Amino acid sequence: MQTAPGAVAARAVRDAGLRPATATSRRRASDAAAWKARRARPADAPTIHALIAEFAATGALLPRELAEIREHVDRFLVLVEKGKLLGCVALEPYGASLAEIRSLAVAGSAQGRGLGARLLDFSLAEARRRGFARVFAVTHAPGVFEKHGFARTSRHAVPEKIERDCHGCPKERHCEKLALVAVVAPERAALPIMQPVECAG
Ligand SMILES: CC(C)(COP(=O)(O)OP(=O)(O)OC[C@H]1O[C@@H](n2cnc3c(N)ncnc32)[C@H](O)[C@@H]1OP(=O)(O)O)[C@@H](O)C(=O)NCCC(=O)NCCS
Repeated sequence: MQTAPGAVAARAVRDAGLRPATATSRRRASDAAAWKARRARPADAPTIHALIAEFAATGALLPRELAEIREHVDRFLVLVEKGKLLGCVALEPYGASLAEIRSLAVAGSAQGRGLGARLLDFSLAEARRRGFARVFAVTHAPGVFEKHGFARTSRHAVPEKIERDCHGCPKERHCEKLALVAVVAPERAALPIMQPVECAG
């Protein structure tokens, strides 16, 4: 029997902080001892900015201004190894029950070791802790999110996102990013806000 996407996300929420995201990999498990996932601090803002800028240059992420990161640094989670910030992710609120997981980035030299998965687990747990019912992401890398219980949806299911970030973007009409949604607190998601649907793209 296939596990429901919501159940996968809920399990990720439950397990976050207790195990590396991909327990099957021995290397990742031993690596995990050296990582620390924590909430970002004001002093992290320039490094977060540089990390996001690296991937904004390739189009993988939307650029973020340093001033905006500083102002909302409390929305970021980071992953640190031996004092070096290697990854970040932001949890951006859209009202009381919905948040976007955005600006997920792992330094190129540290990719493929499970850090991205760990950051996603941490952000799902944090979303639940902050009282959100659902989270969504708009991304070129849907596979990463699908492994954490996200289901594809139409970008039109998140009109607030389109209003906030897409209007004025030169790629707005030809955007290849996909929207995905996950339930992090089923007990708070009794009233459906968004219905997962097959995405044409
Ligand atoms: C996407 C990103 C955060 C993944 O980080 P990472 O630390 O390399 O990922 P992990 O090692 O934790 O891998 C997690 C899983 O996702 C998979 N994965 C990693 N990158 C992927 C991608 N671009 N597309 C699909 N799957 C991917 C891995 O194979 C792994 O699967 P497994 O657990 O079955 O082995 C990283 O590649 C990155 O920073 N990319 C640039 C920015 C970006 O595209 N961010 C996502 C959009 S918000």
